[in-house]
Amino acid sequence: MRQSSLVVVANRLPLDDNVAPDGACEWRRSPGGLAGALHAILEQTPATWVGWSGTIGEAPRLPDIGTLRLRPMSISEDELRGYYEGFANSTLWPLYHDAVEQPVFDRGWWETYRSVNRRFAEAAAEVAEPGATVWVQDYHLQLVPQLLREMRPDVVIGFFLHVPFPPPELFMQLPRRLELLRGMLGADLVGFQRPQAAHNVAQLAAKLLGAHGADDAITMDASPAAPPATHNRTEGQRIVRTGAFPVSIDVAEMRSLNARPYVVNQARRLQRDLGSHKRVLLSVDRLDYTKGIEHRLTAYSELLRDGLVKVRDVVMVQVAVPSRERVENYRGLRDRIEREVGRINGEYGRVGEPAIHYLNQPFDRADLAALYQTADVMVVTPLRDGMNLVAKEFVAARRNDTGALVLSEFAGAAAELEDAFLVNPHDVDGLKETLLHALAADPADLAARMKAMRAYITANDIHAWARAYLTELDLARPLVS
Ligand code: ADP
Ligand code: F6P
Repeated sequence: MRQSSLVVVANRLPLDDNVAPDGACEWRRSPGGLAGALHAILEQTPATWVGWSGTIGEAPRLPDIGTLRLRPMSISEDELRGYYEGFANSTLWPLYHDAVEQPVFDRGWWETYRSVNRRFAEAAAEVAEPGATVWVQDYHLQLVPQLLREMRPDVVIGFFLHVPFPPPELFMQLPRRLELLRGMLGADLVGFQRPQAAHNVAQLAAKLLGAHGADDAITMDASPAAPPATHNRTEGQRIVRTGAFPVSIDVAEMRSLNARPYVVNQARRLQRDLGSHKRVLLSVDRLDYTKGIEHRLTAYSELLRDGLVKVRDVVMVQVAVPSRERVENYRGLRDRIEREVGRINGEYGRVGEPAIHYLNQPFDRADLAALYQTADVMVVTPLRDGMNLVAKEFVAARRNDTGALVLSEFAGAAAELEDAFLVNPHDVDGLKETLLHALAADPADLAARMKAMRAYITANDIHAWARAYLTELDLARPLVS
């Protein structure tokens, strides 16, 4: 296999499961923040992306996408259960999201997680040219930085965590906390969505590894595998830089979608189909228990019950794309949500006039843009979220300064989109009040808020994110190469 100077290692390749029978593939993004974010910056870059194609068993052969080479990893049925559904998504995912569901600790999963991480590290080591930059993504691959450092001390390693990093008292519950912390700190630069995460890691590094931990750098004992003269290494010690790099979206892509006649017409069609005079509340989520969908439905249902919102004036659209469907918690959630949507429509809907339109399906980018344009109030209320790119996409999709964003305080995006209507999603009464407030807001107030958010997103898009991260990572390069 040819080698690259930039290698991205992520659990998933940026493709959904449907590779055409002739093997042809295109950027058909898997729904999820990571693929969307990286897609924008890698499309035009000579790089290799190591990841899983979403199929079980032997990895399919995938052609290059423009200048980007794909290195598909095979994942067996057992690995899928232990590594992806098990340790990554039933242990780390709930624990890293405030334990909003109970994390499961299963000793068998750990071994599989470790061996899959080793295979990803080996694949990265194989495709990285001498002195390459290797950028490892997310909690699925937290052991890869250290494993890769042992295999290839010449490469510069970045790690970025797309999800929250939990407070020390939660992380300390992990039976394998030491290995997970060491694994991640094998990188030269560890990036997070929020500064608090870097602070949490610094505290843990001091406590568990006896390292000197500050919020922007952790000083570790150097492993013998570390290269000689580097910016990030002094005698006997290795410095791991840390910091917050809030991820973003491809604003230019969204703007060009906005201008497409299909999107403009589709937005008009949607508004007509939903009821020309109606105010539209929109939510777009992966069907995940961290997204607060049940709390949101309770709030909406109570507003209808109390007559504060009327089906003749308002309609809700809930897009909930299927996700991790073989994991028990996700199946249970889907059943509960679908029952609740049925109940709400049964109690409050009228013939030809449902209270909620529920769409459990993937959409292409143009249809998502049209949906965003149709919304009067975008309701993004996760119980905990590393960032939440849907909130940013909504802002970028507006063609003018209309529309309100109701945003959870517990989404990383809340630290940046301060002009949203911020809300605590656990507080159903507060959520109801905020929804009413957003529905009744003065257009001049909405315009001022939207203008500020659009300006912010424009200046802080995905390219700014990648530039900031990779510039900082470059500081870890050897002085003499
Ligand atoms: P997460 O990373 O937890 O999935 P984000 O909000 O950061 O959450 O990212 C979700 C991404 O998935 C967004 O880019 C959004 O456009 C995309 N997405 C969400 N729902 C759908 C859907 N029904 N069809 C296609 N893409 C979707
Ligand atoms: O960071 C959140 C994340 O796990 C991403 O890695 C991915 O973009 C998204 O959620 C979707 O998850 P999955 O790959 O499990 O479908």
